[in-house]
Amino acid sequence: AACSSQTTAGDWQAVGTSAELDKTGQILAKNSPVGPVLVVGTSKNVNLTAVNPTCSHAGCTVAWQAEAKKFACPCHGSEFGVDGKVQRGPATTPLKTYAAKIEGDSVVVKP
Ligand code: FES
Repeated sequence: AACSSQTTAGDWQAVGTSAELDKTGQILAKNSPVGPVLVVGTSKNVNLTAVNPTCSHAGCTVAWQAEAKKFACPCHGSEFGVDGKVQRGPATTPLKTYAAKIEGDSVVVKP
């Protein structure tokens, strides 16, 4: 029988706590079980935004711009929407997105 505690692809994975998320409105988990994840929002949001913050251009880490509601790359100026789609180059492919939600005190994501 399969080990029930083993995590498999497609499982929800904790990347931080809801308290951490509420403090700054984002959590950057560089070594989460699903790889680098940037979660944006607060525990009050029904829909949290989560992406792999690794820029699809040359691999810098994008930053969330709360007022403009987009992700911006500090290296060459690429910009991505909350849906990960490219809004401005030089990047041409979208950021990978994750499903994200609050579960108890944890922020969890799923590829
Ligand atoms: Fe992000 Fe070049 S690495 S724009």
